[in-house]
Amino acid sequence: MQRRSFLRLVGGGIVLAASSRGAYAQTDPAAPWKVAPTVQGDVRRQALAYAILAPNPHNRQPWMVDLRMQDTVLLFCDPTRLLPKTDPFSRQIMIGLGAFIENFVITASQSGRSVDTTLFPQGFPESSIDGRPVAMMRLGHTTPADPLFRHILNRRSTKTPYDMARAIPANDIAAIISSPRSGLHAIRIETDPQVMTAMRGFMMRAGEIEAMTPRTWQESVDLMRIGRAEIAANPDGISIGGPMIETLLANGRINRAMMADTSSPAFRAGTERYTASAAATPAAIWYATAGNTRVDQIEAGRAWMRIALTAVEMGLCLHPMSQVLQEFPEMSKELAAFHEYVGVRPPARVQMLARIGYGPIVDPTPRWPLENRITAS
Ligand SMILES: Cc1cc2nc3c(=O)[nH]c(=O)nc-3n(C[C@H](O)[C@H](O)[C@H](O)COP(=O)(O)O)c2cc1C
Repeated sequence: MQRRSFLRLVGGGIVLAASSRGAYAQTDPAAPWKVAPTVQGDVRRQALAYAILAPNPHNRQPWMVDLRMQDTVLLFCDPTRLLPKTDPFSRQIMIGLGAFIENFVITASQSGRSVDTTLFPQGFPESSIDGRPVAMMRLGHTTPADPLFRHILNRRSTKTPYDMARAIPANDIAAIISSPRSGLHAIRIETDPQVMTAMRGFMMRAGEIEAMTPRTWQESVDLMRIGRAEIAANPDGISIGGPMIETLLANGRINRAMMADTSSPAFRAGTERYTASAAATPAAIWYATAGNTRVDQIEAGRAWMRIALTAVEMGLCLHPMSQVLQEFPEMSKELAAFHEYVGVRPPARVQMLARIGYGPIVDPTPRWPLENRITAS
């Protein structure tokens, strides 16, 4: 097959998704997106059915919940779903759990229930994740319905190129910047052409460092689900699917070893796709918290959820580009340079950097069903 057509196939077929929990039979890996509105009865289960649709790094879906206490959800982080190479301190994993909490709170409000959230009720796992709960979420009474709820099912991380000619109206920028509940140290949407040239440069250099560092790239390769059968068996991680992928698979033209080999056409197709998206980035959003504690990270995730839902309301797409914010040693120069560039000094910490702009409507990514993430009820 010509390389050019291979690129087209991969470009049309890749879907990012992430996990590993034994045999599993869900014919539609995106079924939880359809199931959520049908859940009735226990408000906790209704809210959890939407919470599992939260964005999270590499679609690891690190959440586990214990429902044994009445009107209460004990949220845990699954220690088997971390990203030790690219996210060695589980900072991004915590952001995903924060997004989960915010989705839970927004959904519970549709039933008029407030949520009293106690973070890390048994103490903070500052260095490594342990078995202690991340949050205790107790349903309370009477709160107004949060209007952001209506966007949860339409939210996506849109990883395609964006329209470089369409500017974001100032009012929409203001609405997105003011959407997080808690005070962030700094938040900006960059649109200035010179600044955007620098931002795209950070995204591209950091993407290359991650891809060319064998152990960090291997972490992604290990999480790839290539083809319908793998995606159905593990509806998480980086899903690479679509009709063309099935053909390539049948012809032995794509497999995990090829994706790991930095000299293969399969690898090059992936990096060219990343570069094409980074190049078609008309604007960028980033924000920082005043410190980098576990609570800061959870709050950063709650903020991301609200930003993402507000962006849907404005017809905007978002795509996190976390590489330059990662803590593995090979990235440290770029990480420091990025903080220097945006003027954020320790102990403040940039928690999210993302592309923002106008793009196509894309399919939802896979999710494990809620039942799979309940440890006790
Ligand atoms: C903290 C965090 C970091 C992320 N980093 C990246 C990233 O660097 N590159 C990327 O393509 N997606 C990134 N994502 C998006 C996830 O891949 C995405 O949320 C996940 O695959 C689920 O897809 P969905 O958001 O469309 O539901 C990140 C998401 C979160 C919450």
